[in-house]
Amino acid sequence: MTARPEGNPLTQATPPRPASILVVDDDQRNVRLMESILKASGYSVLKAGDGEEALRLVESHAPDLILLDAMMPRMSGFELCQRLKGRYETRLLPIIMVTALNALEDKVQALEIGADDFLSKPINKVELLAKVRSILRVKALQDAVERQKAELLASNNALVRMQGFKESMMQMVVHDLKNPLASIMGNAQLMLMQKAQLTPGRLEELLQRTQESARQLMRMILNILQIGKLEEQKMPLRLEPLALHQVVQENIAEMSGLSARDGIGLASRAPDDLPPLVADRELVGRVVANLLSNALKHTPAGGQVVVDARQEGEEIVLTVSDTGEGIPEELQPHIFEKFVAGQGDHSGRMLYDSGLGLTFCKLAVLCHGGRIWLTSRPGAGTTVFIALRRQGPPARSWEAAAPPAPGASAA
Ligand SMILES: Nc1ncnc2c1ncn2[C@@H]1O[C@H](COP(=O)(O)OP(=O)(O)OP(=O)(O)O)[C@@H](O)[C@H]1O
Ligand SMILES: [Mg+2]
Repeated sequence: MTARPEGNPLTQATPPRPASILVVDDDQRNVRLMESILKASGYSVLKAGDGEEALRLVESHAPDLILLDAMMPRMSGFELCQRLKGRYETRLLPIIMVTALNALEDKVQALEIGADDFLSKPINKVELLAKVRSILRVKALQDAVERQKAELLASNNALVRMQGFKESMMQMVVHDLKNPLASIMGNAQLMLMQKAQLTPGRLEELLQRTQESARQLMRMILNILQIGKLEEQKMPLRLEPLALHQVVQENIAEMSGLSARDGIGLASRAPDDLPPLVADRELVGRVVANLLSNALKHTPAGGQVVVDARQEGEEIVLTVSDTGEGIPEELQPHIFEKFVAGQGDHSGRMLYDSGLGLTFCKLAVLCHGGRIWLTSRPGAGTTVFIALRRQGPPARSWEAAAPPAPGASAA
C-alpha cells in the first residue's frame, strides 16, 4: 500500500505509513543525495548498489516506488526495469528511470520498456519530489483499484457458490414437493378407476388421504415461501390479540382424522382462560401445524401427542409433546437449520421430510421476539417449547431473540 508521508485519503482504512522508495544506483554520491532529499520529505528510503541487490530488496521489502539509475555495471537499469515489469507480482511497481541529461534515446527506451517516468542527472530536487509525489498518487489509486478488484472477485466467487447451493437446494425442494403431489394424483386416479366398486367407507378414506396430502403440500409450499420472506425480514406481521387455545383447537381438529387413522391420541390441555397474546394469527397457527405434523409423523400407533400452554411471567409457553421415536442426538444441535431432516421411521407410512418445518417455526417465533427450543430422548419422545411475549414483538424483535434454555437444543 502506498501512502504519502502526510497521509493519503485513499488509504484511510489503515494508519498511514511513510511510502518507501528504493534508490538503485552504483554511484554512492547519487544515492546519498537522493536519500537526503527524500528523507527530508518524510519518505523511508531503501538503497541498492546494483540490480541483484535491488531485486532482493523488492522481494523482501516491497517498496512503493523505485528510482533506478539507467547505467549500472552487470545488470543495467533497463534490464532490471524490464524484469520487474515482466513479472506479474511487480508489474505495477512504479519505476522512475534516472538517465543522463541529454540522453534522449535512453529516455525513449525507458518509456518503451515500461518505466513510469524518467529523471535527468544532475538531480533537481523540486523535480524529483514532484515526480515522486505524482507517481505515488497514481500508485495509491492503482492499489485501491487492485484491492477493489480482489474484493469483487471474492464476492463474485461467493455469489457463484451461493447460486450453486441454491440450485441444488431448489432441486431437493422440488423433489420433496413431488411426494405429496404423487399421493394426491394416485388417490384421484384410484377413485376414478374404481368409482363403481367403491364402498362409502373406502371412498371416505381415499378422500381423507387426498386431503391430508394436499394439506402437506400446502404446508411445504408455504414454508418455502415464508422462510424466504422471514429470512429477509420482509414478512409483514399482522398482529392481533390471540386466544392461543383456539388456534391449538383449530389445528387439532384439522389433524384429528390423521391421528385417528394412525391410532395416535391427540389432545390439547391448553386452558381456555389463558390471557391473550399479541401475535400474527396465521404464523402462529402454522407453527402449531408444523409441530403437530412432526409429532404425528414420528409417533407410532398407540402413542400420544399433547399440546399444552401456560403463562410464565410476561410470556406464554406452548409445548407440543409426543411419545414418539425422538430425535437422534447427533441431529439435535442442527435440527432448526434448513434442510436438516432425519431418515424417517420404519412404519411404512408415507413421510415427507424436506427439513424445512422447524426452520420455518424458528424464524416465525424469532420474528415475534420469542424463543423456541426442544428436548428429545431417542425412543422416549420429543417436546418442543415455544415462548411468546404476551405483549407482542418488541420494536426490534430479530435482535431481541433471547438465549436458549440450558441443556436443550435451541434455535
Ligand atoms: N417430534 C419429532 N419427533 C421425532 N423427530 C422429529 C420430530 N420433529 C422433527 N423431527 C426430526 O427433525 C427433522 C426436521 O424436522 P422439520 O419439521 O424441520 O422437517 P421435516 O418434518 O423433515 O419436513 P417438513 O419440511 O415437511 O416439515 C425431521 O426430519 C425429523 O427427523
Ligand atoms: Mg416437519
